[in-house]
Amino acid sequence: MQTTTSPIPTTTSPTTTAPSSKETRNLYLLLTISLISILLLLTFSSTSTSPSPSPSLSSSSSPFPTHQKLILLSPNTTHPNPISSIAYLITGSDGDLDRLLRLVFAIYHPKNQYLLHLDLTASGDQRDELALRVEGVPVFRAVGNVNVIGKADFANPKGVSAVSATLHGAAILLKYSRSWDWFVNLDAAHYPLITQDDLLHILSYLPKDLNFVNHTSYIGWRESHRMKPIVVDPGLYLSSKSEIFYATQRRELPNAYRMFTGSPSAILSRKFIDYCILGSDNLPRTALMYFSNMPSSQANYFQTVVCNSQEFNKTVVNHNLQYESWDTPPKLGQHVLGLNDFGGMVQSGAAFGSRFLLDDPVLDRIDLEILNREPGKVVSGGWCLGEDDKDPCTVWGDADILRPGAGARRLEKGIVRLLSNEAFHAQQCIID
Ligand SMILES: *[C@@H]1O[C@H](CO)[C@@H](O)[C@H](O)[C@H]1NC(C)=O
Ligand SMILES: *[C@@H]1O[C@H](CO)[C@@H](O)[C@H](O)[C@H]1NC(C)=O
Ligand SMILES: *[C@@H]1O[C@H](CO)[C@@H](O)[C@H](O)[C@H]1NC(C)=O
Repeated sequence: MQTTTSPIPTTTSPTTTAPSSKETRNLYLLLTISLISILLLLTFSSTSTSPSPSPSLSSSSSPFPTHQKLILLSPNTTHPNPISSIAYLITGSDGDLDRLLRLVFAIYHPKNQYLLHLDLTASGDQRDELALRVEGVPVFRAVGNVNVIGKADFANPKGVSAVSATLHGAAILLKYSRSWDWFVNLDAAHYPLITQDDLLHILSYLPKDLNFVNHTSYIGWRESHRMKPIVVDPGLYLSSKSEIFYATQRRELPNAYRMFTGSPSAILSRKFIDYCILGSDNLPRTALMYFSNMPSSQANYFQTVVCNSQEFNKTVVNHNLQYESWDTPPKLGQHVLGLNDFGGMVQSGAAFGSRFLLDDPVLDRIDLEILNREPGKVVSGGWCLGEDDKDPCTVWGDADILRPGAGARRLEKGIVRLLSNEAFHAQQCIID
């Protein structure tokens, strides 16, 4: 989609001046500062429960006048910090068109970037149809921040073609916009558990170097057994879909660096993505070549790179802000989330949940109770000024105005827990 002149002021905010590696020590200070501001937010969050804040809450009556703006979530209040934004890469396979579109509607915000990838298992017709449907949404067309990859890749979750496709998407997003702060890769089975206003509001208070990556170096012998096989992913060199195959030989786990494993989806800082794609340090490339012959490398690649890099290992938070439910032991597989999980999911304070089935009733409940979103409409936020309750986002205002709600408080609690002194360092790239 070509970007037409945007009616929404898309801020060309200068990319955050990222601290040099020497300044990583300052990160801690920064963290402390943001923790304090988050805690202040927490103190006040109760006041923001009322949907229309009472004007009587004047700044003079508050002991923390500078934080008034956060609390008085008035539709016309500009956010005090520059607002963070996210670059989303959303991947789906054959038949996932409707799930991808529903997900984009549910996580839409004019400040973000969206790149949709229907992988090569889907026909070209499906990609064309996706592009047409995106083009048909007035706000997507006007802001020009939802794009579809025309030249798709295979993204076999069991092979390395998925990592290759993720890096491809990240490279396009880096080129596409200078202003995003975090990269988030989702697939068609994800769905948000808070609004974008909630998420962007909380992220705006965090240091932009943080990487949210589930990781562990614990690889039991059974798992190590599964990591020693040498596999080949034909998605890298065949134009038709074919399954990965196993070589008869096995190899040892690496000892030049430490392997970490985790969850394929993560929230990665722009600086880290830049390092993986453009970095002059060779670790991201050597790791990629090593993983090209490992099964399920998608769950190991970013984990291993971030934890073995001296520059980035202090920036990792051991949680991807997602809610997933696994069988115990986990190798039995991931649960599909349904209505029974609703309470636990919401209480978890996560930003996204996975795995959901197409149009599962729990998604309707999330739309209704959390996102306040009508079917086929984008999730509403501070930038929506329309009078129509069913679709306020037909009239567009300032994209820098956020209207966070209960979801922001849930996420904030979760993040305060993750960034508390003990949790943050005690779970960072630990070698078992
Ligand atoms: C907020 O902005 C809208 C549209 O610009 C305007 O109609 C409304 O009066 C403003 N509200 C306040 C409280 O300033
Ligand atoms: C990061 O890497 C450096 C150098 O390899 C190491 O000394 C430090 O302990 C690592 N920190 C974490 C949190 O892993
Ligand atoms: C990520 O890690 C946290 C704790 O470290 C755990 O509670 C959560 O379930 C994990 N999420 C996934 C998707 O593995």
